[in-house]
Amino acid sequence: MLPTLPQSKAWWFDHLFQYQGFWIPSFGIRGSMLINDHFKPRSADIIVATFPKCGTTWLRALVFSIINRNSFDFSDHPLRNANPQELVLFFEGYLPCRFVYICRDPKDVFVSKWHFANKLRPKELPPLSLEEAFDLFCKGVSEYGPFWDHGLGYWEASVESPKKVLFLKYEDVKKEPLGCVRKLAGFLGVPFTPEEENNETVAEIVGLCSFESLSNQNVNKSQTSSGERPVGNSDFFRKGEVGDWVNHLSPKMVEKLNQITEQKLQGTGFNF
Ligand code: A3P
Repeated sequence: MLPTLPQSKAWWFDHLFQYQGFWIPSFGIRGSMLINDHFKPRSADIIVATFPKCGTTWLRALVFSIINRNSFDFSDHPLRNANPQELVLFFEGYLPCRFVYICRDPKDVFVSKWHFANKLRPKELPPLSLEEAFDLFCKGVSEYGPFWDHGLGYWEASVESPKKVLFLKYEDVKKEPLGCVRKLAGFLGVPFTPEEENNETVAEIVGLCSFESLSNQNVNKSQTSSGERPVGNSDFFRKGEVGDWVNHLSPKMVEKLNQITEQKLQGTGFNF
């Protein structure tokens, strides 16, 4: 089927294929098909869903530590010895279970993704210039893009089925981590008890999953990558800040991205 689909160059390896409206690498298309055909979802299943570079690593860590908070000691926690990717596995598909989604200002997503792409690109290829990446991103051509359609689909699903889809924003989690973690625990069906509130369990989880904590665990300082995952654990941690775009984008680029965002999200109730 792949040769029949529209193709584009990718930001890192492989080509991108336009499949059901989105730009997906070939393994992602294969994965979605396999899941659609063979995976039997259980109602208790939870899917962490994001557009790349919106905070997947952070949300994986938060969900894992909320759900398993009574199984592990915070001082000797699996998140201190494994990257969040190894604890909440990679998965593709659309299923009738619960989704937690995290979105982020497209300007920061673009900058984060551009840095990430240049780390991931095979050494034989020239670096991807900021200008070329910007042009592709604006046209919607990036892994799992268009960015706006990705977020909008989950936004609409969260409005329609708030018990099935929780829509978070990276900026909100940064600003109010305690409130967002309480909301997340409630959505996951494991709200914090008064005793846990007294014991500062919420603050423990926020601290354990913070950028400073996760990026400083030895396991996440490693740059070694396996053949299966051509990216090191440290590559998932760069700055972890809101608004780093000011250091990279020209006023023209900012104007263009803001314009696309406004146009795409107009009248949807979803904004940044
Ligand atoms: P920056 O490149 O802006 O620093 P993803 O996990 O979806 O690949 O997203 C990666 C982005 O999330 C990177 O953004 C990374 O630094 C940031 N990030 C990773 N872990 C984080 C954490 N625990 N808290 C906040 N941001 C985090």
